[in-house]
Amino acid sequence: MSGEEAPTQQQEPEQVKKTDEPPPAAPEPQLEPESSSSPTPTEEEKPLSSRALVLTGYGGYEKIKLQVKTLKKPQLKPGEVLVRVKACGLNFAELLGKQGLYDLLPAPPVIMGMEGSGVIEAVADDVKDRKVGDRVIAMDRCGMWQELVVVLAKRTYPMPDEMSFEEAAALPINYMTAYMMLFEMANLRPGKSVLIHMAAGGVGIAATQLCQTVQDVTVFGTASASKHETISQGGVTHPIDYRTKDYVTEIRKNSPKGVDIVLDPLGGSDTQKGFGLLKPLGMIIAFGAANCVTGQKKNLLAMAKTWYNQLSLNTLKLMQTNKAISGFHLGYIDDEELFDGTIFKLLELYKQGKIKPRIDSCYHFEEVAEAMKRMHERQNIGKVILLPEPKKREEKPKSNADAVEKNEAAINEKKEEPAEEVKAEQD
Ligand SMILES: NC(=O)c1ccc[n+]([C@@H]2O[C@H](COP(=O)([O-])OP(=O)(O)OC[C@H]3O[C@@H](n4cnc5c(N)ncnc54)[C@H](OP(=O)(O)O)[C@@H]3O)[C@@H](O)[C@H]2O)c1
Repeated sequence: MSGEEAPTQQQEPEQVKKTDEPPPAAPEPQLEPESSSSPTPTEEEKPLSSRALVLTGYGGYEKIKLQVKTLKKPQLKPGEVLVRVKACGLNFAELLGKQGLYDLLPAPPVIMGMEGSGVIEAVADDVKDRKVGDRVIAMDRCGMWQELVVVLAKRTYPMPDEMSFEEAAALPINYMTAYMMLFEMANLRPGKSVLIHMAAGGVGIAATQLCQTVQDVTVFGTASASKHETISQGGVTHPIDYRTKDYVTEIRKNSPKGVDIVLDPLGGSDTQKGFGLLKPLGMIIAFGAANCVTGQKKNLLAMAKTWYNQLSLNTLKLMQTNKAISGFHLGYIDDEELFDGTIFKLLELYKQGKIKPRIDSCYHFEEVAEAMKRMHERQNIGKVILLPEPKKREEKPKSNADAVEKNEAAINEKKEEPAEEVKAEQD
C-alpha cells in the first residue's frame, strides 16, 4: 500500500447506545407486526421476538442500533423459509455500507448483513426441499443481521453436519469471491504465483487455502507483521509487511519476473503496482477499494487519492503489455447456476477437509461496534462473526486472536456492562 493510504489514527469506539427515544423505523421486509386483537393467541399467533442491527444513517458506529421487535409469525410467500439466525458474517462491504459507500445496500434505515447461518423454523407450502429444523447457510443482499429472517429457500444451502454455525456464516462470501476469481477468472494452474493482499483477512485466508488445492502455487501475501506466523502456517509462501516494506521490491527479490495473478482489493496506486508486477500473460483482478477506508467515518481525501491514482490505460497499450485486467463483484453475479455451483463446490471442499474458515472472533449483536473496530484497526486474522443471541453478563469474548492488545482489553471490559438493547418496539 502506498504511503498516502497508510492507516490513520482511529477514533474511540462508540458503543450502540441505550436510548429512551423510539428507534427509527427499520424495514422489516417480511415480518408482520404483532396484532393486539387476539386475547388468547394460538400457537401460530404467539408473538415472536427478534433482535436486529439497523443502520439508521451513514456515519460512525453509533449509526447502528440494536432493536428488539415483537412480531407475529410471518405469512410466508411461495418459495420462502423462515430462519432463526445463529451466526452472521461481518464483511468489509458493511464497513463501506455504514459510510454510504456500498451501492448495493439500500438507503437507511436498513438491516445490513449478506450471509448467515441458522435453523429453519418455517417453510412455505410449496417448499419441498427444505424442512423445519434444517441447519442452513442463508444469503441475501442485506437483512441477515437479525435473529429471524425470511429468505428464499433457493438462497439457503444445507450445512454439513460437522460444520459449526460460525464456520457456516464465515464461508459464503469470502470463499465464493476467492474461488470465482482464482478458478473462473484467472484459471489458476500448477506452478503459478499469486499476490494476495489483505492475506490475513476473510477473503485473503480463503484465497490462500484455495491456492493450496493446486500443486506448487507460490503465494505472496501482504499483511500486518503480527499476522505473518499465522498466514505462513496457512500457506502463504512469502508474507510481506506492507506497512514497513515496499511489497513490489520484496516480490522482485524472490521472483524477478513478477507474479502470474494479482488479487487487488485495495484500488488506487496499488492497482498500478499490481499491474506492473504481472508477468507476461498475467492477470490482475480488481475487486475492492479498501484504500478508500481509513477509519469508521468517510474520508473524502482517501477516496479522492484512490480515485486519482487508479489504473487507467487504453486497449492499445493493454495489447502491447500482454496482460489482463479483470473486475469482480459477487453482488453482481446473477447467474444462479454459477452461484449455486460455486457454493456446492466449496461445501464439498469443506467436507474433504481442504478448506476451513478461520474464525477470528465472535461478537454479540450488542458488541457490533467492537466487531467493526477490530476490522478497521486491522487486528483480525480471519473472519469476524456476529451472534444474534444476547450476551450473557459473565461471558468472556470468544476470540482466536493470539495477541490481544491493551486497548482491546479495554473494549472487552466494556463488554461486561449490561446489555445495551434499544427498548423493544411494539409495532
Ligand atoms: N468484489 C467482491 O465481490 C468482494 C467480496 C468480498 C470482499 N471484497 C473485498 O475484499 C477485501 C477484503 O474483504 P474482507 O471482508 O475479507 O475483509 P478483511 O480482509 O477481513 O479486512 C480487514 C483486514 O484488511 C486489512 N486492511 C487493508 N486495508 C485496510 C483498510 N483500509 N481498512 C481496514 N483494514 C484493511 C487489515 O489487515 P492487514 O493490515 O493485516 O492487511 C484488516 O485486518 C475488501 O476490500 C472487500 O471490499 C470484495
